[in-house]
Amino acid sequence: MTGEPLIGDVFGELLRDALAVATGVGPRPMAGGRLPRPVIEIIERDDGLINGAPAAHYLDGPADWQPYDHRAVDRARGETLDVGTGAGRIALLLQERGVPVTGLDTSAGALAVSRRRGVRRLVHGTVDTHVADGQRYDTFLLLGNNLGLFEGRQRAPGFLAALAALARPGAQIIAHGTNPYGTRDPLHTGYHERNRSRGRLGGQLRLRLRYRELGTEWFDYLVCSPDEFADLVHGSAWRLTDVDDRDAPYYLATLRLAE
Ligand SMILES: C[S@@+](CC[C@H](N)C(=O)[O-])C[C@H]1O[C@@H](n2cnc3c(N)ncnc32)[C@H](O)[C@@H]1O
Repeated sequence: MTGEPLIGDVFGELLRDALAVATGVGPRPMAGGRLPRPVIEIIERDDGLINGAPAAHYLDGPADWQPYDHRAVDRARGETLDVGTGAGRIALLLQERGVPVTGLDTSAGALAVSRRRGVRRLVHGTVDTHVADGQRYDTFLLLGNNLGLFEGRQRAPGFLAALAALARPGAQIIAHGTNPYGTRDPLHTGYHERNRSRGRLGGQLRLRLRYRELGTEWFDYLVCSPDEFADLVHGSAWRLTDVDDRDAPYYLATLRLAE
């Protein structure tokens, strides 16, 4: 035993268990084999910080969403790709509204949960691998903080190029981000400083997720200010046309494909 996790489908396992807890159907974690336990996503940062967040919110219906989620889905139009669909909460509402939507995710388990919850069109992969499938979109949604998938200065140009390759003329991207720089907590301000001294963006988090015995590999997840995001988009095929920060520190960034 090393204490190191087994690399596996953390999101898939935790969403499957969260669904089992919510529905009472299927095996789920029990205290003493009897009482249901809440399913907790463990997020480890590379400075040793560990946070836990209940996974149940990935299953939330629209009544429990934050206002910015509603504003984001209200702007979806045309053929829509829900990037990192998770348990499919966003895709389900769009489907209900008659918006043609596809959920994309790297987690086979997350896709299985989305399918069980009724999402009809699902793709396993990344925006890069999906280009070859030939499907093209008018709207890309990156919700649930999935602006993080831009990762940082290295990944952003390739990510934007893949989205441009998947885009129809006039397409839009709506991404939910968090501006991390309002904090005075020295744990976080020190982390931001260390990142910058290494040439990274301050909020370029290096994380791994854990659930039960499983863990992911370490990966970058971007938490940045709207200004930093504007810099990342500059020079790409996309234009940042709107930043809605009514629920600051959270914001919705809207990008449009340049003519
Ligand atoms: C924070 S959750 C957000 C889920 C969902 N968008 C929501 O708002 O409930 C992130 C999701 O993105 C997926 N994911 C992570 N990296 C990805 C990638 N490179 N491409 C597609 N999906 C990815 C994860 O498996 C997970 O389901």
